[in-house]
Amino acid sequence: MSVEGVYFEALYAGSEDPWGFRTRWYERRKRSLTLACLPRERYVRAFEPGSSIGVLTRGLADRCDSLLAWEGAPEAVARARADLADAPHVEVVRARVPERWPRGAFDLVVLSELLYYFDDGDLGVLLDRTADSLAGGGTLVAVHWRHPVADHVRSGDEVHRAVAARAELARTACHEERDFLLEVYEAAGGGAPCSVAEREGLV
Ligand SMILES: C[S@@+](CC[C@H](N)C(=O)[O-])C[C@H]1O[C@@H](n2cnc3c(N)ncnc32)[C@H](O)[C@@H]1O
Repeated sequence: MSVEGVYFEALYAGSEDPWGFRTRWYERRKRSLTLACLPRERYVRAFEPGSSIGVLTRGLADRCDSLLAWEGAPEAVARARADLADAPHVEVVRARVPERWPRGAFDLVVLSELLYYFDDGDLGVLLDRTADSLAGGGTLVAVHWRHPVADHVRSGDEVHRAVAARAELARTACHEERDFLLEVYEAAGGGAPCSVAEREGLV
C-alpha cells in the first residue's frame, strides 16, 4: 500500500521541518544541485507535488513564471503558504496525488523525495499522469534518497528504474552519489533532446 496521509500528518505534528530542509547542509546542497541541474533558465508553468513546507518550492519559484505546489499534509501546506506569501506566482494547494492531478500542461515537473511512498498501482498512475501533463520538450526532474528506510514502499534506486523505463522520457542528465540519485528527463514531442550548449548555439 502507498504510505497514507496520517503518517505525514504525525511527522508534521512532531516537527516544523521533519527532514531538516532548512537546517541540514545535506539538504541545502542537494537542493542547490537540483536547481543547478534544471536545463532551462526559466520555466513557464511548473508543478511540484509533495512540496512539504515549501523550501525547494522557494528555489523553484525564482525560475518559474507560475508554480503549482501540491502537498497532502495540512500543516505543511499552512507553513508553505505563510513562507511563500510574498510570491503570488506560486500557488500552494492541499491535495494528494495521484488520485488528484492538475489540469493543463507543464514545462517542468519536479518529483523530489516523493515516489518511494507509492505502491505499484499509484506509482504507475503517477508516472502516466506526469508523462501526459509534460509539454513536448518539457523537463522532469527526479531526486531520491538511496539508503533503506523502513517506512518507504521501495528504494530510491527502484523509483529511478521505474522512471527510466518510461518510453516517453529521454534522460538528459544523471548525478549519482552514495546518498541520492538526481536525474533529469526531457519529454518526447519537442524534437530530438538538445543539450544546454546546443540550445545556446555553442555547439
Ligand atoms: C520527503 S518530503 C519531500 C519534500 C520536497 N519534495 C523536497 O524534496 O524538498 C515528502 C512530502 O510529500 C508529501 N506527500 C506524501 N505523499 C503524498 C501524496 N500522495 N500527495 C501529496 N503529497 C504527498 C508529504 O506530506 C511530504 O511533505
